[in-house]
Amino acid sequence: MAVDLLLGLQWGDEGKGKIVDVLTKNYDIIARFQGGPNAGHTLEFDGIKHVLHTIPSGIFHKNAMNIVGNGVVIDPVIFKKELDALDQFDIDIKSKLFISRKAHLILPTHRLLDAASETAKGKAKIGSTLKGIGPTYMDKTGRNGMRIGDLELDTWKEKYRTLANKHEAMIGFYNVDIQYDLEELETEFFDSLKTLKALTFIDSEEYLYQAQKAGKKILAEGAQGSLLDIDFGTYPFVTSSNTTAAGACTGLGVAPNQIGDVKGIFKAYTTRVGSGPFPTELFDTDGETMGRVGNEFGATTGRPRRCGWLDLVALKYAVQINGVTELMMMKGDVLSGFKKIKVCTAYNYKGETISHLPYNIEAENVTPIYTEMKGWAQDLTKMNKAEELPQALNTYIDFLEKELEVPIKIVSVGPDRTQTIHR
Ligand code: IMP
Repeated sequence: MAVDLLLGLQWGDEGKGKIVDVLTKNYDIIARFQGGPNAGHTLEFDGIKHVLHTIPSGIFHKNAMNIVGNGVVIDPVIFKKELDALDQFDIDIKSKLFISRKAHLILPTHRLLDAASETAKGKAKIGSTLKGIGPTYMDKTGRNGMRIGDLELDTWKEKYRTLANKHEAMIGFYNVDIQYDLEELETEFFDSLKTLKALTFIDSEEYLYQAQKAGKKILAEGAQGSLLDIDFGTYPFVTSSNTTAAGACTGLGVAPNQIGDVKGIFKAYTTRVGSGPFPTELFDTDGETMGRVGNEFGATTGRPRRCGWLDLVALKYAVQINGVTELMMMKGDVLSGFKKIKVCTAYNYKGETISHLPYNIEAENVTPIYTEMKGWAQDLTKMNKAEELPQALNTYIDFLEKELEVPIKIVSVGPDRTQTIHR
């Protein structure tokens, strides 16, 4: 049985949490394969709004197993808070949530290093969520990291101390003013580790292999978006993991020939948090309206998101890199009321018209070229059948499908599970 993927195709925040939640009924296992608590996956159902950071979005479904894969980085302090917030739902966490022994741990000093590095960068800062993601992946590739499996060894505290001491020396090297009380941070960290250690640790690649052999249906849930991929995103304004399809293979131990459907999620417009180039960004009332109506504030940091029209050049690139087989368009409802909808179909790149994503998409090199389409005024949020969608929106969807050469299977018209139209 193949493993299906679900990926964000823009700069994150496309609505992956909602879609995983909607799709979970078709799967036995939901597995996260990269990123960490920099992600914020928002789910809404039965009048409740819930944000998950590290725990897979299948956790609310009785029959789904949830796996945190080896490619994920885990902050025990945030993880404990996530678990505490789940208390009200009566979920048997020990039997429904398994963690890979090969996943890496985010230490308090990783978070401090993130802050020191960003402060030292000044104006060139990435706009990191400051959750310690970059420094933790640096220790992973530098072969110094601490893994979940280390917690099962008697020597883990010594390993922790050695690494934390090294981090403290590195923080000093940055020579910036970072205030912290490590003793206090460590008390919270060690306390949270007790909760983490009470969970089930597994060799997740073996577990997933056996599950596949047994015919279980598996969905790999991506975090962030393709344009934040460490290799293919807008480097250096990216996160530190492979957010694209290949990341699911390395982040779960799934062989490339075992990948089935690749479900790609995009918003009907574009948003970005943090720094970095964004060709279709709007600085006018249209951008403000998208932000206000779309409630575009980071689920993890609360920061306002930058907003702009849909960038088909970037979206095509993401479809291509990931081998997307079906698309899901989110937040179509937010565009209701715009008289004209614009879509960027090409770039003017240093005076030349191009339709591929070039190495450098900084504003001084790239000006978007737009196709203008008619808007629609109808409120979509109460609609639940494809036939109810306004003609102008259907024209927009048809145009995107033709350009992207992939069918749009789901149109989401609101944050709730029920506000989902299947086509
Ligand atoms: P980091 O991964 O926290 O270091 O952040 C690096 C960049 O990725 C920053 O621009 C963040 O705003 C962005 N980023 C990280 N995680 C997310 C996410 O889940 N949604 C949107 N942007 C994110």
